[in-house]
Amino acid sequence: MTLDVVFTPAGLTGAEVQGRTVFVIDILRAGTTMCAALHHGARAVVPVATTEEALRMAQTLGPDETLLAGERHCVPIPGFALGNSPREMQPEVVRGKTLVMTTTNGTAALLTAAAGASVIVAAAVNFSLVGERAQTALMAGEDLLIICAGREGRFALDDAYCAGRVVQAALGGNRGRKGLNDAALAALDLVRRYGERWERPLLVSEGGRDLAELGMKDDIADAARVDAYPVLPVFHERRLQAAS
Ligand code: MLT
Repeated sequence: MTLDVVFTPAGLTGAEVQGRTVFVIDILRAGTTMCAALHHGARAVVPVATTEEALRMAQTLGPDETLLAGERHCVPIPGFALGNSPREMQPEVVRGKTLVMTTTNGTAALLTAAAGASVIVAAAVNFSLVGERAQTALMAGEDLLIICAGREGRFALDDAYCAGRVVQAALGGNRGRKGLNDAALAALDLVRRYGERWERPLLVSEGGRDLAELGMKDDIADAARVDAYPVLPVFHERRLQAAS
């Protein structure tokens, strides 16, 4: 068994992902927003790389069935129905809809993970389900990979802290460190540094500070709400759906 963390998907190859149980993290905010949408009844989320691709995909899937969602530089994309705030994903808006979504880092990280044997979105808002899944996978001898979306190829504290929490949950009471790569060890150290409260590392991270400056501090509070959107989003055949 292996338990690897990567702090950015940059440079990750399909071969490194293939056959592994993969957790993808973009806690601020794409991963949290996907959990909110699926928890509130969205049929699926289809992540795509570009705005143009999103428009084409929405046409293919049928405009009546779909909602365009996403951001660039944290702000909603002109012409899209939704931005990238979990608080926008209200049941009356998203129920029964397929969201076609493009964000700066989160959707790209998911697309990188596509070759995984099982690909799951992890955040604080679905943490208990993620922790159980990670622990079961490790006990079953599966190879785990935790991909942090990061920030345009760079380290992001908010995602790295979340990765540490997933590593900790996967290990359960087991104090052994066999099979962990250096990034997984460093992520665990962040948990020791910041403790159990999710909001602290999110607020001090660059991503958190950017959101606060843009007047979106409530999204940080939302992202820190443990188990607020208890759903296990699984990425399979280009779409993310809630595991039943
Ligand atoms: C991303 O995918 O880069 C983030 O979710 C950015 C954001 O907070 O809107």
